[in-house]
Formats: sequence, structure tokens, C-alpha cells
Amino acid sequence: MNQDQPTAVSAPTQAVHPAPAGYQSGFGNEFATEALAGALPVGRNSPQRVAYGLYAEQISGTAFTAPRSHNRRSWVYRIRPAAVHAPFKAVRHAGIENGFGDVPTPPNQLRWNPQPMPTAPTDFIDGWITMAGNGSAASQSGCAIHLYAANRSMSGRFFYSADGELLIVPQQGRLHIATELGVLHVEPCEIAVIPRGVRFRVELPDGNARGYICENFGALFRLPDLGPLGSNGLANPRDFLAPHAAYEDVEGDFELLAKFDGLLWSAAIGHSPLDVVAWHGNYVPYKYDLRRFNTIGSISYDHPDPSIFLVLHSPTDTPGVDAIDFVIFPPRWLVAEDTFRPPWFHRNVASEFMGLIQGVYDAKAEGFVPGGASLHNCMTGHGPDVATFDKASQSDTRQAHKVGETMAFMFETKTVIRPSRAALESSTLQHDYAQCWQGLKKHFDPARR
Ligand SMILES: [Fe+2]
Repeated sequence: MNQDQPTAVSAPTQAVHPAPAGYQSGFGNEFATEALAGALPVGRNSPQRVAYGLYAEQISGTAFTAPRSHNRRSWVYRIRPAAVHAPFKAVRHAGIENGFGDVPTPPNQLRWNPQPMPTAPTDFIDGWITMAGNGSAASQSGCAIHLYAANRSMSGRFFYSADGELLIVPQQGRLHIATELGVLHVEPCEIAVIPRGVRFRVELPDGNARGYICENFGALFRLPDLGPLGSNGLANPRDFLAPHAAYEDVEGDFELLAKFDGLLWSAAIGHSPLDVVAWHGNYVPYKYDLRRFNTIGSISYDHPDPSIFLVLHSPTDTPGVDAIDFVIFPPRWLVAEDTFRPPWFHRNVASEFMGLIQGVYDAKAEGFVPGGASLHNCMTGHGPDVATFDKASQSDTRQAHKVGETMAFMFETKTVIRPSRAALESSTLQHDYAQCWQGLKKHFDPARR
């Protein structure tokens, strides 16, 4: 992708003021940006009269009194306040589920083929299917995991989720995400995070698009502490990119969609809500290129727990226990002495929803394909399949081996991930998944050490 190209906006087509080239760099920084010179107040947030006749508005993403290190809010200077729209009415969305657990959650290993591309016109919001989740939006804890598959840009409508911030993981097709705070251009192997409440429109420059969404109901995603690793490594803060201000001064018969308390709501709005001319703060949409992850591993024997692959986490009040870990399995070199190199057989207290963006995941020789998904819940045994185990048991681990051109990821959660009825009844569910372990033979021989 070309980060330097000006924003391409397909609709609306007039009075759109694109972002300047590039992005602002850093994670959780206090950014300041204006699309019109002098639009940003100096020395105060809410002057009596804002330049250019703009309205001042604050959007807070944490409690006002949250510790400074975790406090997130932004001030926006906009053409109309966010309150200007018709009343919301609930609308039906065939794919979005509210609440989880209306069907029993089996302790089985579960795996799905990719969601097929829609044949009817389907935009980014139409194309959501809730696969699983835990907790609830109402209690502001847990998450929902959605897939999206879409084939046209959102036109004349805008969306926000009041339920959670959206971690979007494209698997196929680029996304141009025009938000109130500016535009993010995202491609597969990059992620975007849209804060709770921030309004946006998604355009699809490649036509078809497919991917994964983790809707985080709880504490905002943040970078993990690095402990003994030191001051660098994993996802480095300067690789996180926030947009510059860009605004649309457009009027028309538009629709504002809100996900609120698990349901979808629609309101008429007579203008583009992407009308923020200037803003400052640290509550921002951002993107990150997963290929910039500094992957850390063993240089002696064994390999560390997958927490070494942590990109972002949503912590709980219990130290060291996260509500959500976003973990990736990127290209990396493996070399070790007397070590089984793929992920070992395991059962975890945490629950794991995995997806594959590209390539092959090193614990599964086949069946886990890009765009697909798997779910291994709390204490459900899993690990390499027969072919992977046999091959890895014989290979010379002292020979460096590149796990290349792959990008798998995991949404790992503290509590059980409950699949939706749609996920359990989907034609994409692989009913023979567990067969991949049933051929693991007994090798035990007490006479042979
Ligand atoms: Fe696992």
C-alpha cells in the first residue's frame, strides 16, 4: 500500500478534505492535528468561540479519574456536534448476536472454513457474523468475535460501536477506514483499532474484503510491559500510526448506525459525521503493521510460552491476568537443541480463538486455511496434528528453519469463549476436525529408553 497517497473517498464525493500524507506515530501519544490552519485552540480546550465557527466536543474513552497513564480522551473541533441526528430506532441485523451462551458451549476442538464471499451487495457492516464471545457489552467486560465478508463500500452511512473498541484484522482486501479523526489505510497483515464510539465508514478499494474483528468490551487495548526483555521488543510503540485530521463538509440523506447494548440501531443524519476539522488527544484510531513485530524466541532449548508473541492486551484488575490477549505467530527463525519446535501439546486455563491471515500455521499441516478459524476453549486438549508431530520429531532442530510467509493470530481470553448458534450451525464448521489427532499412535515402550 502507499501511505502517501491522499485519501480516496468514493462517497460522498464533494467537499472532502483529505488527510495530509502519512500518519502520526506512537502508541497512546498526545497527538495534535488540524486540517485547517488555526482550527486547533491554543492553551485551552473549550474557548468561548472556536475558530471557523466550529463546535468543541470531548470524547472520553476511560473514566475521567482513571490514572494518567491509562487515561484516554480526545477533544474534537467539528462542524456540528455529535448530538445532531434523528432518534435511533432498532434495526435487525442477521449476523450480529447479542449475548452468548444461548446454545451450550461444547468442550470440543472447533474449526471453521473461511466465510464465503457474499453474492449480494454487502458492505462492511452488513457482512458481520458474530462467531463467539464472552462477558457482555452491558457489563463492559469480555468481547465479541466477529467475522466480516463484504463486497462493496459503505455509501451514505456511518457506524460506531458503543459496546467496545474494534480490533480489525483484515485477511483479504484492503480497507480504507474514514473516521471522525482521519483516515486509516489498512491491508492484510496490518490491523486497525477503532475506539469505542468513534464514527467511521469503510471503503473497499479491492472490491472483496474479509477478516476478523475482536470487539473489546473491557479495558482499552494497551501495549504489554516488557519485564526482563528490557526497553525494546515485541510491538514497538513508534510503529503504531494514528491519522491526521481530515473532514467532510457534506450534507445529504445519510444513515448513522450504532451498535449499542448488543443491538444495531439506525438514525437519519443530514450530514457526514466525519466533520472533525481539528483534534488533539490520545483517544484515537490507529493501525499497526504486524510485519514490524519484533519476534523474540529461545536461542538455547525449548521455546517460550506464546505470551512472548503478545501484541496488545486488555488487562483486568488482577495483575498478570488479561481479559484479552491479541497474539500473533509471524514469520520467524527457529533453531534449538533437542527441542520439539512446533507449539507443544497443551491445555490452558485461557481460551483461544485463532485465525490465519496468510500462509500455513506451524502446528497444523493442513485444514487450517487463511480466512478460517479455530476455537480451543478452557482445558480443551490440542496441539500439533499427526503429520506435524511426526515431521517435527525427526527433524534436526539445530538446523535453522524459517517459518516464513505466514501470519496467524489468536484472540485469547480469560473466560470461556462461547460460540454463537450461527457458528455452531454454520456449513463452514469442520465436523471432522478432531480426527487430526486420532492418528497419534502409542509409542510407549517400557523396555526402550
Ligand atoms: Fe493453543
